[in-house]
Amino acid sequence: MKTITTVADLQTEISKLKAKGKTVGLAPTMGALHQGHMVLMQSSSDENDITVCSVFVNPTQFNEKKDLDKYPRTLVADEKLLKKNGVDIVFAPTTEEVYPKKLKTELNLDYQGLDKEMEGEFRPGHFEGVAQVVKRLLDIVTPDALYMGQKDFQQFTLVHFMMNHFDLPTRMRVIPIVREESGLAMSSRNVRLTPENKANAVEISKVLKYVKRNKYKKSCKELQDYAMARLAKMPEFRPEYFTIADANTLRSISNCKDSNYVVACTAVWAGEVRLIDNMVLRKPRGLKIFV
Ligand code: PAF
Repeated sequence: MKTITTVADLQTEISKLKAKGKTVGLAPTMGALHQGHMVLMQSSSDENDITVCSVFVNPTQFNEKKDLDKYPRTLVADEKLLKKNGVDIVFAPTTEEVYPKKLKTELNLDYQGLDKEMEGEFRPGHFEGVAQVVKRLLDIVTPDALYMGQKDFQQFTLVHFMMNHFDLPTRMRVIPIVREESGLAMSSRNVRLTPENKANAVEISKVLKYVKRNKYKKSCKELQDYAMARLAKMPEFRPEYFTIADANTLRSISNCKDSNYVVACTAVWAGEVRLIDNMVLRKPRGLKIFV
């Protein structure tokens, strides 16, 4: 495994590999890696000859400078984990490499509301920043496939929209949510939960499962109201939203029969920790993006 820090060196390496006919998978990350990320690496290395993992804390997706400054930077530990999980190249550039002054990298795309729904309401500008950095990484690495997690449903949906908009040749590959035995979605934030809040956070996946089981029995409004009330009952829990939406447009629907691709997404404060989770309620046959 090699760590490369400049765009020029990475592109030289990728050109050599491509000339030998090697396929390349890219897993973009902001570092502070945990076992949940490793499923991205393993899927990429199963499906490609070469796996590139980018480790870059992207300033353009942070709403608050203080969050950017506080974001953990743990490259040495990340490298150890990546080495064990089939990664060939770690791309760890500086901000100047990713956003050189002379290059225009803002996309100014109309995301058709994908950036405004759900998380968008709480994180203005965040998704533009995500799309901007992923487009830049795709331009640099030119991978055959891009690996992203289902946990950030809105993020991969918006990135997929951006890739289609630019007609990029890269395939999107989405890795299903990795859950702890209890059902709690794995996240680097889980370690910050108090033991009581962690035990109660299991309720989130239980509610999602209930909604999935009852998707044709009740209207989306009834299901959403039920979910919000059940989550709000947990001590120290404050659900921000529970939305049942068309999974392509991310707009709320009134009945699960109204679309053949439906997702339920939620964000809940558990004490001081904001958790997100989602579950696909309906998926069209032949949808190829999920690994
Ligand atoms: O999900 C993340 O870690 C980031 O948003 C991503 C996709 C690496 C872009 O910076």
